[in-house]
Amino acid sequence: MHTQGLSHDPPGPRPTGKISAVRLSYLTRYARDPLGFVGRRFARFGDIYLIKTGSDRTYVTKNPEHLRIMLRTRAAAFGKPSIGLEKVLGNGLLNANGDIWRKNRRLIQPAFHSKMLRSYADIMVEKTREMAAPWRSGTQLDLAAEMMRTTLRIVCAALFDHNIRGHSDEVGASMTVFQETLGALNLVPEWIPTRHNRRAKHALTTMDRLVYGLIDKRREELRANPARAESTDLLTQLLQIDDGEGGLPRKALRDELLTLFLAGHETTSNALSWAFVLLAQHPAIEARLHAELQHVLAGRLPTFDDLENLPYTRNIIAEAMRLYPPAYVIARQANEDVDIGEYTIKAGSTCTAWIYMVHHDPKLFPEPEVFKPERFEADDPNLRDAYLPFGAGARMCIGATFAKMEMALVLATLAQRVQFRLPPGHRVVPRPKITLTPAGGVPVTVLTRTK
Ligand code: HEM
Repeated sequence: MHTQGLSHDPPGPRPTGKISAVRLSYLTRYARDPLGFVGRRFARFGDIYLIKTGSDRTYVTKNPEHLRIMLRTRAAAFGKPSIGLEKVLGNGLLNANGDIWRKNRRLIQPAFHSKMLRSYADIMVEKTREMAAPWRSGTQLDLAAEMMRTTLRIVCAALFDHNIRGHSDEVGASMTVFQETLGALNLVPEWIPTRHNRRAKHALTTMDRLVYGLIDKRREELRANPARAESTDLLTQLLQIDDGEGGLPRKALRDELLTLFLAGHETTSNALSWAFVLLAQHPAIEARLHAELQHVLAGRLPTFDDLENLPYTRNIIAEAMRLYPPAYVIARQANEDVDIGEYTIKAGSTCTAWIYMVHHDPKLFPEPEVFKPERFEADDPNLRDAYLPFGAGARMCIGATFAKMEMALVLATLAQRVQFRLPPGHRVVPRPKITLTPAGGVPVTVLTRTK
């Protein structure tokens, strides 16, 4: 498309140097209250603003029209910017750009085909039951931590056909360190052995050992027993990719598996935690959920085929992800000049789309702070670029169907058996880390349901 060369910049805060007192004060204020800080900037400057830091330019938007351009119509003009993830995830799908991304996305996509996904439904329900088995009425727990452990077990079983239990402490600890260290600002070079750098390195070594070990073992198994090739787990699928060039190399397999591992559980876990927080805060909606589950399942465990008959359950999850989108911001780098509304995004600059702010915009979602699953009863085409928990366009989440199925099955399994109650007056505050996390966890008391 021809660029008009629109000359003026969007409004924005005072430009700063990369190392300057003003920038430090912005960063400190952001760190204290990220959502409040960004929200106030949008309130002041409008739907798009420009941050100039030294020679760097970062456009920050919450306008669905801009999202459509970035993610769909001019997606080819943008790439993924470097945000430090590549240190851990290498060239996995989440990070990769250009031909590597295109080739690997095409190769991996079939592993997420609904035929494959169907086979994961029972694992999802089983792991959920295992989590809830020790719970009694009055049990107190951190629901966020329970969900994280369970979604990790589910993704491990789906990826590796591997019961993580034997390694769960090791993997769980490494994942926590990844989440902490990747989400934290680290101004110290990696080779200096600070506590942060040592922990990050140890976590990476542990995960590498585990993932490479699983790849090598499965390759051996496939050689020794070709019938194993029928397994539906992702590792087996990826090992059998036939691209005429010997398939994915060992390092590429490791990058993809670690990416799916990391991308595939924290997001889902947080969405589920938020859904249960909202249900605990909204008894009438919880009662309507119970009625649907009773009507469709009458106490039995849900299956893949039940999902289409559980629209309210699915809408609860959709609305929880509107209010608390786990992937709260999407970033791109412009490879060329791109016109966006009345402005031109300059080649080389970064664009960040604040999904959280789009989802909370009263022009798009009336009474945006109110939890209303009914919003999703009608399929509103106007919201195509305004409701984007899984992104959009060619780089949309590859695990979206997997995640939606997992969340509905976990919700339906648990809500039939238990309710969660927050301590009186307790507020759960969203905290943007790698994903949108409930700050300080979700302390709850379990109530078992009698009916
Ligand atoms: C509620 C759960 C989830 C949410 C909210 C979520 C959200 C997202 C979003 C917004 C993107 C696009 C990012 C961008 O455009 O920059 C994305 C990409 C991705 N997601 Fe998810 N995700 C979830 C679950 C999963 C699961 C279960 C998996 C895998 C098992 C997964 C694997 C990926 C991968 C590999 C990408 C990169 C795709 C590409 O660039 O080709 N996600 N996810």
